[in-house]
Amino acid sequence: MRVAFFRLEQWEREYVEKHEEFKKLNAEAVFFEGKLDKDHLPKDTGAEVISPFIDSTIDKEVLEAFPNLKCIVTRSTGFDHIDLQACAARNIVVSNVPSYGEDTVAEYTFGLILALARKIYRGFDQIRETGSFSLEGLRGFDLKGKTLGVIGTGRIGRNVVRIARGFEMNVIACDIYPDEEFAKEMNMTYCEPLRALQEGDIVTLHVPYTKETHHLINKGNISMMKKGAYLINTSRGGVVETEALIGALKDGHLGGVALDVLEEEGVIQDELEFLMEGRLEEHNLKTVLANHILFDMPNVIITPHNAFNTWEALQRILDTTLENIKAFAEGKPVNLVL
Ligand code: NAI
Repeated sequence: MRVAFFRLEQWEREYVEKHEEFKKLNAEAVFFEGKLDKDHLPKDTGAEVISPFIDSTIDKEVLEAFPNLKCIVTRSTGFDHIDLQACAARNIVVSNVPSYGEDTVAEYTFGLILALARKIYRGFDQIRETGSFSLEGLRGFDLKGKTLGVIGTGRIGRNVVRIARGFEMNVIACDIYPDEEFAKEMNMTYCEPLRALQEGDIVTLHVPYTKETHHLINKGNISMMKKGAYLINTSRGGVVETEALIGALKDGHLGGVALDVLEEEGVIQDELEFLMEGRLEEHNLKTVLANHILFDMPNVIITPHNAFNTWEALQRILDTTLENIKAFAEGKPVNLVL
């Protein structure tokens, strides 16, 4: 069985090759530097198992290029970069890493919240750029007693709630599957999404990206957020309509925004390549432009999809991925999303 890993670092490659359970499978590991998509196909497409990261796009054309493909083990929780329907049509098994980052991403979310609330980055940037220790424009606000609206109380959202309660914030949350027991334990209330938007001093998003969550925050409802509220997105870029964000920041309705994820994130990451070889018709260039406007706006913090990125989380991702491969090889696939 040949297993093709995309974009593994050297220490990860060595870990895979030395892994006792992986050795027992008699599998051949092949490693590719970059991402996998229809414009970045490796010469060797004979693998039965592929392990991409979220920067890859596994669509019908990619599946067609891998004639022997039987299993995809994505090294991520989200699987919106994989065409599940096309996989189902080919009987390709898809496994994910359901839990590796519930603490990791929740901690990062609070890093972003604190960076906005206390203008931490702005303070540092001021010293570096001007050497000034002036406090002018750097006054923030306490989290204690503020209301946090949590959209999505799955693995990550729950940890965000726990941390928020540690800060003595009030929490209101929404989820299509509310867990009343958890709500009682955390002394928080579940509500409709609109109420979380209306009452949250800070609103943070922890839902997967699906047809239903596409532009969950949009031009129609962003104006219903509290005046001066803050929005945090560490889920997926497409959950927020970028143009709506710009409008709400420009007219001063939102106090600030922190985004670890962007719509059209793939294009933004390598614009030169996109300009030279990209498929313009498949992307929303208005959104790409809107992202650039966001980069230059005050009260906006953007990070490069980095919330998952700790040593501990990467180790957990790798271990679960190897378990997924082993389970597939033994005919009992686990962590199936399909
Ligand atoms: P999860 O599946 O444990 O939780 C998601 C929750 O959202 C569930 O409770 C679900 O019922 C709820 N939900 C789904 N649709 C909803 C809707 N329309 N309205 C309200 N609630 C809804 O997922 P987990 O582990 O908490 O991760 C959430 C997302 O975070 C992932 O899908 C992924 O896209 C993103 N993520 C981002 C990372 C980063 O590095 N920025 C790293 C890991 C995950």
